[in-house]
Amino acid sequence: MSFQPHTVIEPFRIKMVEPIRHISQAERAAALAAAGYNLFLLKAEDVLIDLLTDSGTGAMSSAQWGGMLQGDESYAGARSFFRFESAVKDITGLKHVIPTHQGRAAERILFGSCLAEGDVVPNNTHFDTTRANVEFRGATALDIPVPEALQPQLVRPFKGNIDLDALDEALTRHAGHVPLAMITVTNNSGGGQPVSMANIRAAHDICLRHAVPLFLDACRFAENAWFIKMREEGYADKSPFEIAREMFSYVDGCTMSAKKDGLANIGGFLALNDDALARKCKDLLILTEGFPTYGGLAGYDLEAIAAGLHEVLDEDYLHYRIRSVQYLGEKMTAAGIPIVLPTGGHAIYIDARAMLPHIPQSEYPAWALSLVLYLVGGVRSVEIGSVMFGRQPDGTEKPASMELVRLAFPRRVYTQSHVDYLAEVLLYVNRIKASIRGVRIAESPDTLRHFSVRMLPAHGALCEE
Ligand code: F0G
Repeated sequence: MSFQPHTVIEPFRIKMVEPIRHISQAERAAALAAAGYNLFLLKAEDVLIDLLTDSGTGAMSSAQWGGMLQGDESYAGARSFFRFESAVKDITGLKHVIPTHQGRAAERILFGSCLAEGDVVPNNTHFDTTRANVEFRGATALDIPVPEALQPQLVRPFKGNIDLDALDEALTRHAGHVPLAMITVTNNSGGGQPVSMANIRAAHDICLRHAVPLFLDACRFAENAWFIKMREEGYADKSPFEIAREMFSYVDGCTMSAKKDGLANIGGFLALNDDALARKCKDLLILTEGFPTYGGLAGYDLEAIAAGLHEVLDEDYLHYRIRSVQYLGEKMTAAGIPIVLPTGGHAIYIDARAMLPHIPQSEYPAWALSLVLYLVGGVRSVEIGSVMFGRQPDGTEKPASMELVRLAFPRRVYTQSHVDYLAEVLLYVNRIKASIRGVRIAESPDTLRHFSVRMLPAHGALCEE
């Protein structure tokens, strides 16, 4: 007998629960109005399914919580640091491991130690904090994804790849002004798409030829390893751990937000091989984050990350994780909802411009759609469109290249019935899409406006009756 089940189950059982609360549609409408039609300004308690981000929102395991009780809170040389360091070295093989309170702190310390005004940093696509930290140094953040990354509906296995010709060209053109190149795995801003091993290896060869160090933004390294296992020839029989090791073998360092594939609620690190640069980074770390054996984290956080980095490479976990996102994506595609294809690792991105062609970009279709998802089903998502990116540094307005709504999945938090519920909400909203109306800005700060902007329905209501 060989029973081959089709159902992919959550590879865990639930030992601790946190209630979530249904509130009525009228209460949600009132909450939206009070929040200035900005989902960031809602009380999380008023949200039923929270897909704002997959960052720091995951559930930790009993092993992680158990490890936390053993946290060594010594200021210097804590046992927990050595456990953390050994977990990071085990997976990355990198020589120096510097803990930070989250990913952007690792970015700030790295760029603060090696970038000067006028420098250029090529990357498949910079995440927004990465870009901001590069620009804060007076350097240029150069996004060079492969061209297919910009075609949402096109199905290709590795749409996260960096454009190798563009990389070679950038390193030649800006020779002497590129202190490092980066590859973001998976490519969050480009739809959570993976990068192939062949692409990382080839980028490594190009960088080596130009004597430029290559770094990974490794936030979702385990999800990327899983996609390589599933999609790239020669990797089907390798473990996610072996694949991750190989990915890191081609780079000189990495920045990491442990709030993603560290399965922790807070934390991150910077790891690198260069002795002199590591010393500079540690000096800067002491100034703002803390002593190099804790870097702004508690000993118990280091324990949680040390355990999480290995748990995240578990095949059953990765299978369930990627499959549950894909499962929702399939239901949406079958219903004709346009999404970025193929589905990525941590999130689904709805193409709001394609779904709501009757709403002009000047009325923020993705923002409007995200509000209606909350109003109808208590689902919180995030707009990645013209509210987030439309305001230019000189104060003018320029529509974003895409109007997306991102549904990002916290790790190990929601079950299949939550996903089925989500599908119902999304399919219902798709049926009433012609009634959805645009929004306008009522009151806006000058920078990073999406976090605090106050909006209003542009035509009296979010949906026409
Ligand atoms: N790099 C990538 C690719 C990210 O997705 C993030 C965070 C960071 C760096 C920064 O890490 O938040 O720990 O400082 N992404 C979150 C998101 C916030 O919602 O996508 P952090």
